[in-house]
Amino acid sequence: MEKINDYLNTHKDRFINELIELLKIPSVSADSAFSEDVHKTAEVVRQKLQEAGCDHTEICETKGYPVVYGEKMVGPDLPTILVYGHYDVQPPDPLDLWNSPPFEPIIKETDIHPNGAIFARGACDDKGQFYMHVKALEFMVKTDQLPCNVKFMIEGEEEVGSDSLADFLDEHKEKLTNDIILISDTGMMANDVPSITTGLRGLSYVEVEVTGPNRDLHSGIYGGAVPNPINVLSKMIASLHDENNHITIPGFYDKVEEVSTAERAEMAKAPFDSEEYKKALDIGDVYGEKGYTTPERYSIRPTLDVNGIWGGYTGEGAKTVIASKAYAKISMRLVPHQDPDEITELFAKHFEAIAPKGVKVKVTPHHGGLPYVTNIDSIGYKAAAKAYETTFGKTPIPERTGGSIPIVALFEQVLDSKTILMGFGLDSDAIHSPNEHFGVWNYLKGIETIPYFYKHFTALSKE
Ligand code: BES
Ligand code: MN
Ligand code: MN
Repeated sequence: MEKINDYLNTHKDRFINELIELLKIPSVSADSAFSEDVHKTAEVVRQKLQEAGCDHTEICETKGYPVVYGEKMVGPDLPTILVYGHYDVQPPDPLDLWNSPPFEPIIKETDIHPNGAIFARGACDDKGQFYMHVKALEFMVKTDQLPCNVKFMIEGEEEVGSDSLADFLDEHKEKLTNDIILISDTGMMANDVPSITTGLRGLSYVEVEVTGPNRDLHSGIYGGAVPNPINVLSKMIASLHDENNHITIPGFYDKVEEVSTAERAEMAKAPFDSEEYKKALDIGDVYGEKGYTTPERYSIRPTLDVNGIWGGYTGEGAKTVIASKAYAKISMRLVPHQDPDEITELFAKHFEAIAPKGVKVKVTPHHGGLPYVTNIDSIGYKAAAKAYETTFGKTPIPERTGGSIPIVALFEQVLDSKTILMGFGLDSDAIHSPNEHFGVWNYLKGIETIPYFYKHFTALSKE
């Protein structure tokens, strides 16, 4: 496959420009104001799949945003790779923290990306990453080197919990049959330290509401004599961790898989520089569960984090008031074999139990997702490792990540398929944050590496 580098050299400017065009459409799934743009993005993705060489493409309507489907079938006896990605993006807020507008992509050099990085919402998560697969397909089709069948399934609701996807999988089981699922929606350790994601955390996400008095009150006239819901909520939230930063919800850890000492020792061999980590985030020290290292805390251990908290007066100046209500959004990242529904229930029961008598508590579940782990003995993993060895000249390190892609566990349940996570982003690419970006080098390296996965996976499947 010598020609991939020639092909890239000839077409890389166009590849970058096509991605830039895609990034200009604000496909924010969380905000209905962008609904038209989300639909428009789906249509553009469909066109791009068709142009890249799919024989058949379609927009599949769901009860939410559509799934874009495309396929190129080259032989019934050949293996089939199903590529999954998402064309929706996170809201760009807070806008004032962006150095350039989120939907006006620009290329700028950074310390980590000396060849430039594309700055835009969705650059890395996930437009830049799924589009690598579209361009890798183009290369394989145009140079007559596609070794197996390929199907694409690019959805538009990942950032809001993939609500329509369970039904979609059930309805389209036949159409989606495959031998392996391939996803680029995670990261790697560093540009000179390739890694393959072998685990994702699950998620349970809840919103809580604490109600005190039936109306907002003068904080002098009533202060000290009534339950202040914001004070109460803060105290309740604080009590969810003990002095060792263990989560205090009864039963929370019951099903948590304790990773073996041997595997933890293996994990500890991966490069991690605590000083650099602190410096990059400008924190005086790391913080977390006693008895675990930083990489363990963000990968093999479950967590509970407040994502937002509000209530009372937050405008300019001071207003003396005791609010009637206080709210928070809380996420729990889960590890094998925790079940999101069970954890949500444990949380709700506990939260109601610790509420003082004077307040009412309401817990509303949002989306959830199962955790995922895969082993490194599969032909999928081996094919991916060989692909990285070819293009990076190094054996990739298997790495469990802290993020979640709930659909991956669903793929296993409904389609009985394993997933290989070949991510080319970096943690510092600021996904979900202002100034999200994706290295130009990473983008092109992904396009270069993917065809080798196809080649090795097809070869290993025949053995
Ligand atoms: N691509 C991310 C997940 C991710 C990023 C995993 C980096 C590993 C490394 C995905 O788009 C995402 O943001 N997922 C959400 C969950 C979803 C249910 C909203 C997450 O992890 O918060
Ligand atoms: Mn993503
Ligand atoms: Mn995301």
